[in-house]
Amino acid sequence: MPATLEQLRRCHFAVDLGAARTRVYVKGAGLVVDQPSVAAVNTRSGALIAVGDFAERMTGRTPDYIRVVRPVTGGTVIDIEMAQRMLRHLLGDRMRRSLRRKPRLRAAACTPHEADPLARRATVETLVGLGARRVELVDTLIAAAVGCGLPVERAEATMIMVCGAAATQVAVLSLGSIVAAERVPVGGEAVDHAIVQHLRLEHALMLPSQSVRPLHLALHGNGLNLSGPSATEIHGRDVATGLARSVVIDTAAVRDAIQTPLTAVLDGIYRVLRECPPDLVADLGDRGITMVGGSALLPGLDQMVREATGMPVSIAERPDVCAVRGLGEMLEGNIEPLVLKPLGA
Ligand SMILES: Nc1ncnc2c1ncn2[C@@H]1O[C@H](COP(=O)(O)OP(=O)(O)OP(=O)(O)O)[C@@H](O)[C@H]1O
Ligand SMILES: [Mg+2]
Repeated sequence: MPATLEQLRRCHFAVDLGAARTRVYVKGAGLVVDQPSVAAVNTRSGALIAVGDFAERMTGRTPDYIRVVRPVTGGTVIDIEMAQRMLRHLLGDRMRRSLRRKPRLRAAACTPHEADPLARRATVETLVGLGARRVELVDTLIAAAVGCGLPVERAEATMIMVCGAAATQVAVLSLGSIVAAERVPVGGEAVDHAIVQHLRLEHALMLPSQSVRPLHLALHGNGLNLSGPSATEIHGRDVATGLARSVVIDTAAVRDAIQTPLTAVLDGIYRVLRECPPDLVADLGDRGITMVGGSALLPGLDQMVREATGMPVSIAERPDVCAVRGLGEMLEGNIEPLVLKPLGA
């Protein structure tokens, strides 16, 4: 059963455990953690060496006995114990002590749309391990819509697209609930992976996923759909010799390489629009689609969605933190419970 606003208002902190980043909002203190969901472990002693930004910087640069792990994969906590240890370190001693002092610690968390019971259970267990006596789960789509200020509780349609690292979720919302939604398992990671594969196959260049950002920027300017002569230089390692090498890359070819994952995303949008009642689709013509999530910042993605749907598309302010900010608003009691409450309650 989805959590009610009253239950959420009683929570002390809220967590968004993402495939790329972990974010924590503490009631009264605001967003206290926004760090990569990464931990570095000493495999000999089992000790945690680093978490968050420090651990991410170690990726691919560690000696044998240090392993960099991601306890959240594909939007699901796959290693509960490691996720708990990572969260404890990210929160820090002071914040953890102040949370522990609450007599009945309550937590909220957002989970992907239609997450399976096992995935939901894993999120709950992670927070119970952190001392929470009760955990309320909220659909990421609702949290993100509240976080970017969409009037979800009104009797008119709003459309949101949550572009995460592991998945893209699209929904039409009205009267505080989801009318139609889709979760496509394609996000920023899949786009980066397509670029890495392209460089490997076409240029015999190996490159870690985290180094493709300059290519994202190169796509900027003429968008994802338009082809135009532009090139950018990128440094990597030769597949055959293993030596450092740099190549000049035609951005039009990169744009083609990422079309496949992005087509899956567009198909998801079309499916949601098809499922949606015609009256609501008419509302959407004016308001359009709001994009949130870190991958909403992928240069040209908004333009591509605009061209594919013919609808207005806007990117929320600070799109990456919308979901956790939405949870925060619910915790602080900043949203009106009007329509979400049954009549006469
Ligand atoms: N400026 C940017 N340009 C392109 N991509 C970006 C930018 N900033 C962040 N990203 C991408 O956004 C993704 C992270 O987004 P976000 O923080 O919403 O993910 P997440 O919440 O951890 O993932 P999920 O919700 O799928 O579990 C990463 O794949 C990252 O590469
Ligand atoms: Mg997310």
